[in-house]
Amino acid sequence: MKKIKISAIVGSLRKDSFNRQLALAAKELIGDRAVFNLLEYQDIPLMNQDIEFPAPESVKRVREEVKSSDGIWFFTPEYNHFFPGVLKNLIDWLSRPVSDNEPQVLAGKPAAISGISPGMSGTGLAQDHLVTLISFLNMNVMNVPRLTIPNAMQQLDSDGKLLLKSSYPYLENQVNAFLDFIAKQM
Ligand code: FNR
Repeated sequence: MKKIKISAIVGSLRKDSFNRQLALAAKELIGDRAVFNLLEYQDIPLMNQDIEFPAPESVKRVREEVKSSDGIWFFTPEYNHFFPGVLKNLIDWLSRPVSDNEPQVLAGKPAAISGISPGMSGTGLAQDHLVTLISFLNMNVMNVPRLTIPNAMQQLDSDGKLLLKSSYPYLENQVNAFLDFIAKQM
């Protein structure tokens, strides 16, 4: 059987992003059970219908990555009780048909959502908004388990690296659940 491919979309462009570190921890836990591709999308322009067709090269690249993935795992920060604009911009690009005969690439893809924040919310509100959006785009959302990690500062080492002490088992649980969720649809 073909190896599962998961693309991780991190809703933060920050170099030391906690959410990026969370994605890398998930990658490590998955090990050789799946290909785990951290999608880089800093070069995607702001959506502007004047430049939509033909799609910019950066957009073509991320669309191909998503298209060839068996599952998409979102790792989102919370900005003002919402998910960040960079993530909305990326999803807006991905939500558009590639051409007259090729539909958008997100429809039907299994999706998981996680997030970590320094505050108390653990990104729960941002995740709820993201679920609304990706459900509208007909993604197949794994609603249970989702992972919300509050108080990130309590899980850092002295260099600011995320150790995921108490949250580790929950991430492990979500990794296993998402691999099962995807496998059932292949
Ligand atoms: C934040 N932050 C934040 N945190 C939170 O828990 N709830 C919120 O509503 C917000 N709002 C917010 C707005 C904006 C514009 C910024 C820049 C930040 C703090 C945020 O959670 C924190 O910066 C995280 O570290 C961002 O995630 P990454 O970059 O570490 O993955």
